[in-house]
Amino acid sequence: MSFRVLIPDEIAYSCGKELERLGQYKILYGGGTDEASLLKNIVDIDAAVAGHETYSRKIMEAGNKLRCVARFGVGYDTVDIPAATDLGIQVTNTPTALSNAVAEHALALMLTLAKKIPYMDRRVREGGWDDRNDNAHISIEVAGKTLGLIGLGRIGREVARKAGGCLGMRILAYDPFLPPEKFPEGVEREAELDSIFANADFVSLHLPSMPENCGLIGKRHFSLMRKGSFFINCARGDIVDEVALADALRNGPMAAAGLDVLIDEPPKADNPFLTMKNVVLTPHTASFTPEARSTMAESVAHSIDRVLKGEAVDYPVNNLGKGKNA
Ligand code: 8YV
Repeated sequence: MSFRVLIPDEIAYSCGKELERLGQYKILYGGGTDEASLLKNIVDIDAAVAGHETYSRKIMEAGNKLRCVARFGVGYDTVDIPAATDLGIQVTNTPTALSNAVAEHALALMLTLAKKIPYMDRRVREGGWDDRNDNAHISIEVAGKTLGLIGLGRIGREVARKAGGCLGMRILAYDPFLPPEKFPEGVEREAELDSIFANADFVSLHLPSMPENCGLIGKRHFSLMRKGSFFINCARGDIVDEVALADALRNGPMAAAGLDVLIDEPPKADNPFLTMKNVVLTPHTASFTPEARSTMAESVAHSIDRVLKGEAVDYPVNNLGKGKNA
């Protein structure tokens, strides 16, 4: 017996190669990531690998044989989890595979901002080498500065470990879901979100997108930030009120932001961040390393294989009751 697996997003094709190696799998690569294409292609599919495309109730209902949606990544805001559970579809993710990649990316953005790398790079290319004695070329050191983390899951903890260790930063963290005794040594627990903004030189987001987090970070938080401080988001765009963020970047007190994620991806042409010199943007690529991707591919293939063989998975997102495919 062979299983049919759909991989619409090219980013996750490597999962197909892993499954092909296991035998018993026929992989359908591509075919489109829009709703109409997914509705057509998901019929008679046993498992789907979820890249950037969305799995709504309607799409999963169209998968008359669908038993598994395996996220190629950690966030699962693009999958309707209650609908998957109702339909008896196991959703899985890869929560350990990309922690290091994303933590490094957040720190790279932090150092890029602190050291004014984009500005200096631009000035050198423009022939402005001799301007280096002006104040605009004065950067800051991060050692001894305070990094405030919002969310202390795997990625947040890895950022804390690296920044508190080799970079010599003081680490504050807010995570209402983590019991105080579980905070790692050297990380100071803040019970209030506001305290992170008021007391940090750098604020970095490491929490998932959930309906209750939508627009969580807004005008009041930005107004509390220290003069000349920095904001980093490698989590999800919709956690932040982007209008308030743009306003704070124009008027202070923060100095600059590093954003790997936006509400609209890709951004519309009139997105204000595109023209702001105090914003560094990367196109949601924090996890784009060969190391993370190959671990993610192995993990996704393993999960699909386990689900289709009726075995328990390492990283289930939902608890299955009785659904049509259970
Ligand atoms: C993924 C991500 O690479 O893991 C996540 O949730 O945001 C990314 O790092 C991307 O979603 C592609 O699957």
